[in-house]
Amino acid sequence: MPQRLRTSTTTRRLVVVGAVVAVAALILVAGAVALRISPQAPGASTARLAPTPPMGWNSWNHFGCAVSADLVERTADALTANGMAKLGYDSVDIDDCWMSRQRDARTGELVADPAKFPQGIASVARYLHARGFTLGIYEDAGTATCAGFPGSLGHERLDAQTFARWGVDSLKYDNCNHDGLSSKAQYIERYVAMRDALRATGRPILLAICEWGVHQVWTWAGDVGQTWRTTHDISDSYMSMLANFTVNVTLARYAGSGRGWNDPDMLEIGNGGMTLTEERTEFTLWAAMAAPLIAGADIESLSADDLAIYSNAQVIAIDQDRLGRQAVPIPVGGLPAGSGGLWVLSKPLAGGDLAVVLFNSTDSVQTISTTTSMVGLREGSFELREVWSGAVSTTSGAISSVVAPHAVELFRVSSQSTG
Ligand code: GLA
Repeated sequence: MPQRLRTSTTTRRLVVVGAVVAVAALILVAGAVALRISPQAPGASTARLAPTPPMGWNSWNHFGCAVSADLVERTADALTANGMAKLGYDSVDIDDCWMSRQRDARTGELVADPAKFPQGIASVARYLHARGFTLGIYEDAGTATCAGFPGSLGHERLDAQTFARWGVDSLKYDNCNHDGLSSKAQYIERYVAMRDALRATGRPILLAICEWGVHQVWTWAGDVGQTWRTTHDISDSYMSMLANFTVNVTLARYAGSGRGWNDPDMLEIGNGGMTLTEERTEFTLWAAMAAPLIAGADIESLSADDLAIYSNAQVIAIDQDRLGRQAVPIPVGGLPAGSGGLWVLSKPLAGGDLAVVLFNSTDSVQTISTTTSMVGLREGSFELREVWSGAVSTTSGAISSVVAPHAVELFRVSSQSTG
């Protein structure tokens, strides 16, 4: 009896507790809904739109202004045919020069160049969506794009609505011709205007901020967009890639899951200006930095070697790791990180593994050495798997390699303890 009594008292308590929990849950849900529709909600859209760094293709590095529906659709088909789509390259992005020189005289809307996009942008969006891709487009937070086409400054609402109506999924928003609105506050204002305009459409559209790092975009962009360019434009050379790396690598603490991603610009792999070693280095460094992996080459004519770089699933997994941490640079031999052109990077991964990069940016062969404790591991025995060669070794301390000029070694480090 006492047992039953206790049970029924417990049951009543449970009912009361349950009701309280249900009401609390309702309040939380209502709060979350309010948060989602609030134009000020930081992080919420990033967690949804870019839980890991975006992957895909963009027309600019290889094709410049020579964009067209035909190119975009053929590129999507090539990404499917060569296996890259399956590996995560699912965003197909049209950069500058897709527009007509004038807005529509009656509606004020942007107009796609009818020679390049005879069926319009919505038709390209349908083509991509039917094949599992998203569509990215380009505009500018000034009076004109960098190539001189109509800008969105003062037209944010209308342009965002137009993009939403066409089925656009992401917007790269550039910074040319900004009409003297050049203070930090004015920068933020111009980008927030487009953020709010995109949100007001009700269509989830990723905002890729492209202000080239002018006003320390990494300090404010987490509340505005999902990715932000930290550097000036990359070009197809080792020195340019190295320059962008050197800026971006110092900014690890500003990036991460739910906040957004530092973007050192699109990949040049396959464009001919770097050796295969340098291309592997670019891919490795970008992955370690949890950067967007946006191929900037002619996908239809990639060599087998370049395709193999873009398709290295283990490197992609490090970039896309769900912990969402950007690698931090580690001092080498008691000197500040990067001293003498020698770099050690350490990126914690979900599940306790670590990615460690040894990067020799110099023109001569170098030995680069660190230790498991320097890269942030506790004592123990570890397996080192060099991701490009597949070579496996074990260590309980030293991580050291002779690294060729401009080359990297990328280790996935796992604990060997069975406990
Ligand atoms: C700027 C951007 C580039 C590209 C061009 C297009 O330079 O930084 O990435 O979009 O404009 O004109």
